[in-house]
Amino acid sequence: GFLPTDAGSSRNIVSTVKDNNKNAIVFYGSQTGTAEDYASKLLKELSSKFGLKTMTVDFADYDFDNFDELDPDVLCFFLMATYGEGEPTDNANDFIAWLDDEADTLSNLKYTVFGLGNSTYEFYNAIGKKIDQKLEEKGGERFAEYGEGDDGVGTMDEDYFTWKDKLIDSLKNNLNFEEHEMKYEPSLELSESYLTVDDPSVSLGEPNTKYVLGTSDLTKGPFDNAHPYLAQVKHTQELFNSKSRSCVHAEFDISPSNLRYSTGDHLAVWPSNSNENVETFAKAFGLADKLDDVFELKSLDSTVSLPFHTPITYGAVLRHHLEISGPVSRQLFLAIAGFAPNDATKKSILELGNDKVAFADKIHHHKYNIADALLAVSKGEAWSDVPFEFIIEFVSHLQPRYYSISSSSLSEKTTIHVTAVVEAEEVEDRTISGVVTNLLKNIEIVQNKSSDKPAVTYDLDGPRGKYANFKVPVHIRRSTFKLPTSSSVPVIMIGPGTGVAPFRGFVRERVAQKKNDLKIGPTVLFYGCRNETEDFLYKNEWPEYSKELGSALEIHTAFSRQDPSKKVYVQHKLLEQASKINQLIADGAFIYVCGDASRMARDVQNTLVKILAAERNIDEERAAELVRAFKVQNRYQEDVW
Ligand code: 2AM
Repeated sequence: GFLPTDAGSSRNIVSTVKDNNKNAIVFYGSQTGTAEDYASKLLKELSSKFGLKTMTVDFADYDFDNFDELDPDVLCFFLMATYGEGEPTDNANDFIAWLDDEADTLSNLKYTVFGLGNSTYEFYNAIGKKIDQKLEEKGGERFAEYGEGDDGVGTMDEDYFTWKDKLIDSLKNNLNFEEHEMKYEPSLELSESYLTVDDPSVSLGEPNTKYVLGTSDLTKGPFDNAHPYLAQVKHTQELFNSKSRSCVHAEFDISPSNLRYSTGDHLAVWPSNSNENVETFAKAFGLADKLDDVFELKSLDSTVSLPFHTPITYGAVLRHHLEISGPVSRQLFLAIAGFAPNDATKKSILELGNDKVAFADKIHHHKYNIADALLAVSKGEAWSDVPFEFIIEFVSHLQPRYYSISSSSLSEKTTIHVTAVVEAEEVEDRTISGVVTNLLKNIEIVQNKSSDKPAVTYDLDGPRGKYANFKVPVHIRRSTFKLPTSSSVPVIMIGPGTGVAPFRGFVRERVAQKKNDLKIGPTVLFYGCRNETEDFLYKNEWPEYSKELGSALEIHTAFSRQDPSKKVYVQHKLLEQASKINQLIADGAFIYVCGDASRMARDVQNTLVKILAAERNIDEERAAELVRAFKVQNRYQEDVW
């Protein structure tokens, strides 16, 4: 959450549990918010169905040295995301290090683990598996089976259900808990405020909570999830030459702040919901007349933090804090059924919630968001009985989207470039939009006074004009995707589509290094897109870089839809350059792959294995070992999604 809890004052997990009279803990290792989201929903279910006094715990908020003194009656649930190359999420790092290096026996511990992973990555659910095993090795007692979910094939929700159903069975059958019907018990209490929307103390959804306090200097960091920097978008440009597809180049000005980045980092960009989605959501819950009304929130449980600053308007919550644009989940159907506007709707919503096939067919298939789905089931009748506290607790909260930075901190110290494909998908008669990319597209259209019409519209002026001039909340996420320290080391960069973004940054970095009289090693880029005239990103920049870098820069392009008789992909171009690739690797080249994780990154890795095997006359198994070793040595780096 955004704000510290009262309980957050102590880092002692054992005494916090005791002092707050809890007997269940849901720990979450979360990077983008999914595990955190499941944690808060699991808390609700454990509390209301089994009367368990549950708290959620962000590992980063506690120390674990006395964890072995936890009361043996406390049940521990671990929701553990795996990130990147089998790494823990940032917030779980210290806990895992403690478990590895310091923890003694944990014979009091009763636990179960659910891993959140993505099977398109090599180390699928490495962290979930590891925690499950480690806790057993340490003497913990697994009271319900390990489970894991796969974001790569889009079954995370259903996988979670499968795990949770077994968990509930074991609570009932092995631990003899009695199950009650789920009933909503709020952890938050809302009260209408006498303040009006124009009172300066009322939050209008500013993601940087310092804003609301008014006094802090907003140009001084550290900038992070809770305190993004409101950056001005100073330049935008459409990069595709296409009627149907769009890719925006956007430049964020960070010069007024002390925010700094390094080439290869990611930019986190905070979304806000489109006018259309805010309107439909308001309509679905009968809130259309209340958007400017102000309320305050109080936590009824000292371990539950307020998710955002209040007093705030209903409209600001819908626009800036809730994830209302994404697909609705089956979990929400089950939880919200009790507030249905009539019995027929309640019956339908429970049927859909309990039947995964029907849900997939009638709801998921149409890509309905929450409002679309609820209105479809109620046949247009508003869900006016749903308490707003419930909406705040059960609807996921907006999280930043991450983009590979396409500028170089050496040539652009105080400007950050990103390259973002605009997602706007037509499903039936609706436009499903990517919240950040569509916002950037709107800015592009307005800035360049283009005759295009945006597919969806955003409140670009923002509340009180504070976002005027297109300020967008951002912060930097450090990455390990970095050029070798020496500019003379050869690099092989493979980045089709927007995968080219960080490599534009790398090339600009080497151009800047050259201007500083550094020696530049071979800089070889493999780029792929559909065809030369439509979606060739930064087509007119590459010749300029070549002019600067001379023969050090080599660009190989693969056009997949230029010649209808054959698909040419980057890996085909790699094969054509097999002997050169092998030589560069022998000379110590670093290899970088950026872009699609589901197929491209794997195909490229397999191709490199083939090249090494053929060129070095070794079998493929040995070549695969070499490639794996490069990964371990950080000479083969991936930035894939
Ligand atoms: P396609 O869409 O014509 O199949 C950027 O998205 C480029 O990557 C496109 O030209 C796309 O081609 C191509 N691409 C799709 N699948 C790929 C794969 N498995 N490996 C490499 N490139 C791929």
